[in-house]
Formats: sequence, structure tokens, C-alpha cells
Amino acid sequence: METNKILLIGGNGKTGRRVANLLQDTSNVEVRIGSRSANIPFDWEKPETWTEAIKDINTVYITFQPDLAVPFATEAIQKFTLLATKLGVKKMVLLSGRGEKEAQICEEIVKATAQNWTIVRASWFNQNFSESFFLEPILAGYVALPRAETLEPFTDADDIAEVVKEALLNEKHNEKTYDLTGPQLLTFKQAVAEIAKITERNIIFQALELEEYIAMLREYKVSEDEIWLINYLFSEVLDGRNSSITNDIEQILGRKAATFSEYVQRTAQTGIWNEVNQLS
Ligand SMILES: NC(=O)c1ccc[n+]([C@@H]2O[C@H](COP(=O)([O-])OP(=O)(O)OC[C@H]3O[C@@H](n4cnc5c(N)ncnc54)[C@H](OP(=O)(O)O)[C@@H]3O)[C@@H](O)[C@H]2O)c1
Repeated sequence: METNKILLIGGNGKTGRRVANLLQDTSNVEVRIGSRSANIPFDWEKPETWTEAIKDINTVYITFQPDLAVPFATEAIQKFTLLATKLGVKKMVLLSGRGEKEAQICEEIVKATAQNWTIVRASWFNQNFSESFFLEPILAGYVALPRAETLEPFTDADDIAEVVKEALLNEKHNEKTYDLTGPQLLTFKQAVAEIAKITERNIIFQALELEEYIAMLREYKVSEDEIWLINYLFSEVLDGRNSSITNDIEQILGRKAATFSEYVQRTAQTGIWNEVNQLS
């Protein structure tokens, strides 16, 4: 049987790292990580790095950094998918964002260009609380956010990775678009309260208007590019449009999606939210 050579772009990121772990012991599969620090460097902002990273690859998992909503994403996805197809890539699995209009333009590009494709559209990751934006405020014991009352179906990156693995390996997922959500709707306030309860920590949650939040980010000297993306996410995605649940994870994996509490319990055991981390 021919070896399936898979390029995981963002293969050290929140979902890519998990997909790489899941593929580790799969027979007839060879994994190549695509990122700026990989053995064969891949950079979305440097198209001259793409050809070498795609060479001899059959299947690609596309995660786009920082987000498919940023202005240069559409052009980069267009160029990348055309090049990958020309160089012999047979299948592309795209990680997309639920409710993101710009991401859906990128989905259409992949669908029109790839020989075979699967779109994995995810809602906000649980892991944003432990591996991304919200870790620092949680460690500081003070989380101030807009859209405090919006209900989100936070999704676990472990579940997303399992779905991506299936999509990469199994042709029955070709030409399918999956909408992944967790099994319950929670507000940011409820999510933070759950982390506080399970870690037995005092974490204050303060609801802000979006304008107040943006002003606070500027005070903290967050870069204007990041502020643009955060503003986009809170005004265009986290406004309640994703306040519904799907059962795609259960249909694909044959088991229930992880609850937010399960995620918090599992993550608390790693010590990532321990107060001692505040000092380091
Ligand atoms: N977070 C969410 O809640 C959420 C929800 C739905 C969809 N999404 C989508 O998920 C995608 C991100 O995927 P992810 O969260 O799995 O990955 P991720 O955690 O954002 O991936 C981080 C890794 O990407 C690499 N990277 C950063 N800039 C890069 C560049 N210019 N070129 C190549 N690699 C780069 C970095 O590795 P190096 O430093 O080695 O380059 C970094 O470790 C975004 O497109 C977003 O729209 C996110």
C-alpha cells in the first residue's frame, strides 16, 4: 500500500499538534509539520517557502494563521490550493470558522480547487482558555470581556483533531462540510465560572462593552493587527449567530462531544491554571 504523506500546516498549533499525535502510530502514514519553525519551513506570508513544503505530499491539513478572516487570507488560500493541486496534492482538509463569512469564501476556494476536500468548520475552541487568548487573564484572576451574555457552543480541540484525522484518512468524508460544536451552550461568564469552580480559584469576570474592551487592549499595548482580529471576532462572530448545537462530532466519531466541564477537569490536572504560573 502506498504511503499517505500528509502535510499538517500549523502542525504545532492547537489542532495540528493533536492531529499529529493521533497520526503518530497510523500505518502507511508519514507526517510533515508545516510551520515557520518546522524542519522544512512553511510560512503563509512567504509563498517562496510553499513548494518545498508541499513536495511529495498527497494530503494537506490547512490551518491558516492568524485567522481566515484576515485580509490576505483569501489570496493566500487561492495561491496555495492552486500550487498544491499542481504539485499533485490529492486531498485538502480545511479548518474553517463557524459563522465567519470570510472563512466561507476560503471554503469555496478549496472546494473549487482541490481534487478532494473536507471542510471542518469549528466554533470557538475550549482551548482558547488554556492555550490562547484567555490564559493570561485567567491566571491573573480577572477576565474582562464583551459579549458576556452571548451563548457559545465551545468545542474541544481534541474532538476537532479526531474529526480531522478521520477526514484526512477516510474517503467517505470527501466533499463534506462539517459544523463542529460542543454539546452545550455557555456564556463566557459561565465558562470562566466553571474554571474557577473546578480549580477552586477566585476569578473575577467583568462584562465590558466592545469599545471599552478595545480601549483596554490598546492600554495593554496589544498590536493593532491583533486588535483588528479581536474586534472582528467579537463583532462579527461572537454575536449570537453561533448559538446553536450540532451533532456532527457524534455522527462522525460515534461518541458524544466533550462537555466544557470535562475539558476543564482534564485541563486543570495539567496544572496550566495553577496560580504559581502567575509568577513565571
Ligand atoms: N481558536 C478558535 O476558537 C478557532 C475556532 C474556529 C476556527 N479557528 C481557526 O483555526 C485556525 C488556527 O488553527 P489552530 O488554532 O489549530 O492553529 P494555531 O494554534 O493558531 O497554530 C499556531 C501555530 O501556527 C504557526 N504559525 C503562526 N504563524 C504562521 C505563519 N505565518 N505561517 C505558518 N505557520 C504559522 C506557529 O508555529 P511556528 O511559530 O512554528 O510558525 C504556531 O505555533 C485559524 O484559521 C482560525 O480561523 C479557530
